[in-house]
Amino acid sequence: MAYQNFNMDHQWLPFTPNRSFAKDPRVFVAADGMMFTTHDGKQVIDGISSLWCVAAGHNRKPINEAIKKQLDTLDYATAFQASNDQAFVAAEMIAAMAPGDLNKVLFCNSGSEAADTSLKVALAYHRARGEGHRNVFIGRERGYHGVGFGGMSVGGIPANRKAYGTAFLPRVDHMRFIHDPLHPEHAGHAYIHGEEPVWTEDLLAELENRILPLHDPSNIAAIIIEPISGSAGWYLPPQGYVKRLREICNKHGILLIFDEVITGFGRLGCNFGADFYGVVPDMLNFAKCVTNGVIPLGGVICSDRIYDTMMGAHSNAPEHAIEFFHGYTYSGHPVACAAAIATLELFKQEKLFERAGQMGKVLGDAMHSALMGLPNVVGIRTLGLAGAVELSPIAGTPSKRAFDIFMTCYHHGVLVRPAGENLVVCPPYIVEKEHIDRIVNVLADAIGQHA
Ligand SMILES: Cc1ncc(COP(=O)(O)O)c(C=O)c1O
Repeated sequence: MAYQNFNMDHQWLPFTPNRSFAKDPRVFVAADGMMFTTHDGKQVIDGISSLWCVAAGHNRKPINEAIKKQLDTLDYATAFQASNDQAFVAAEMIAAMAPGDLNKVLFCNSGSEAADTSLKVALAYHRARGEGHRNVFIGRERGYHGVGFGGMSVGGIPANRKAYGTAFLPRVDHMRFIHDPLHPEHAGHAYIHGEEPVWTEDLLAELENRILPLHDPSNIAAIIIEPISGSAGWYLPPQGYVKRLREICNKHGILLIFDEVITGFGRLGCNFGADFYGVVPDMLNFAKCVTNGVIPLGGVICSDRIYDTMMGAHSNAPEHAIEFFHGYTYSGHPVACAAAIATLELFKQEKLFERAGQMGKVLGDAMHSALMGLPNVVGIRTLGLAGAVELSPIAGTPSKRAFDIFMTCYHHGVLVRPAGENLVVCPPYIVEKEHIDRIVNVLADAIGQHA
């Protein structure tokens, strides 16, 4: 495709260095399968599923056709005091995939909205039980739950918080991060290949012995975690951590929320991170892969217990009374739900989650064998169909090395993701070994160039 001349003066780009982008733009104009076409006619491998979204690869006909058909049938219908047929079907399919008693889907449009929705459900649920004083939320250092005020407050990535201090929710605390390279006894966690890190230290002792007593467990509404810290750079929890967190929450009547915007829908070779860790949360947030990224859709899958409590609290209220004052104009948008139905069917038909598990091993092998020992590499973590290589920072300019490597990879036709000092690779589940080899070799060369 020929170079397309367009005016770039008016789009303010999100989470992007706008000044450097203007000098060296990266603009996609077409995509198919694993590949993008850029504005200047180059082919680039999508090594990050377009930010963890495009699990089935680009330009999948069944999804596109479902969207077109839906547009011609029911383009949109209000979500309040009414609904649409597609939303019920999509909710049923999602609930069927979710573990345990996670059966009630509240739709929204993004991971950020899912985070804020889940926090609001937690507050409303406790109030419905007569425990409205439970209003403390616990997140984790370097967690990412989107950019709404709630998600940002429980989130723990310093750069995302720095400018907004006065706007945080007032009663939020954070657990320690799940990676601690400074302690030699944890040095073995720098290189993780498909297994769970084993810590000698009990990482949740801090929650039990400091954070819970400080706030008093009876005041804590919910703990929210990403089962694996995705945006921070694919950091894995210690063995037993997720299960024990569930036990602690049970003991104190605290709700456990899994933010599975990244780990949901197959990235770990199974439906959800909850399945991978064998733990059922009280709420599970999803977005991204549910529509293959093609059209915005997110949601929170709530337990029957939460839903029943919310309905039960209104048993004496008149039937026209709304039980939960929350929702978005586009909650359960019929076109997005039609895309979700087609996507989830495609995942099943092509057994894409199993494939993600199989190709994850190929990716892990390739990253560990090609990148270990390269200059500045201080860690490689692979699990499921995702991996991160961590580099030592350039003194005084944090994250620059990773950014420069990302740019070099792009110029050699491979899209990877810089995340702090990490480069993350998380390709679509349709990825072939040749793509993985190309991604990893280009990454290895770029790491060498920026030594
Ligand atoms: C775990 C997690 N939660 C929430 C979000 C925010 O999602 P969105 O950008 O769709 O608002 C993301 C985005 O990457 C995420 O990884």
